[in-house]
Amino acid sequence: MKLSLALVFVFILPVIRAQVPHWGPCPDPAVQPAFNLKQFMGRWFEIAKLPAQFEKGRCIETNFTLKTDSSIRVVSSEILKGELRKIEGTGVIEDLKNPAKLGISYSYVLPFSPYWILSTDYVNSALVYSCTDILRLFHVDFAWILGRTRTLPDSTIQKAMEIFAKNNIDVSRMTPSKQQGCEKSL
Ligand SMILES: *[C@@H]1O[C@H](CO)[C@@H](O)[C@H](O)[C@H]1NC(C)=O
Repeated sequence: MKLSLALVFVFILPVIRAQVPHWGPCPDPAVQPAFNLKQFMGRWFEIAKLPAQFEKGRCIETNFTLKTDSSIRVVSSEILKGELRKIEGTGVIEDLKNPAKLGISYSYVLPFSPYWILSTDYVNSALVYSCTDILRLFHVDFAWILGRTRTLPDSTIQKAMEIFAKNNIDVSRMTPSKQQGCEKSL
């Protein structure tokens, strides 16, 4: 009990403070059928995200590459206070029966977080969802709309929001990510 309380204070509270937790367990959304990991690889720009993190950087993008051991090299970058920052993580398919259910970890001391591809056409946009149950009482979640380009048509974003909502994911607080003035700063 002591250990789990300590974990709550060290790891969970900061996460909760950053967003609104939802009561009950994680939703169980449908994921992309016949997910093709190879086609998903490459560069994706963050178009919108949940929850809003106003203090965070802009020009956020992630580059996925398959490694020879069939894990995934995940390099995310952002521009924060005029500086390009990069972090590298590792992705894996967590459930071979459901290859769209990936897990990503940005440090060997951290567990893999869910990174589920709910929907993608591989060439324009992708919808990603990550949800973690906490003490089986409530859950915290993250959602992203990713694009192969720095902007997506409004109709694509509207459709993405509808897919999230249809899967009982509350995206009312989803906010657009800043992707302006990115090339010139690099
Ligand atoms: C993505 O990563 C691969 C492998 O490291 C690299 O060859 C490629 O240039 C990267 N692409 C971008 C846009 O950073």
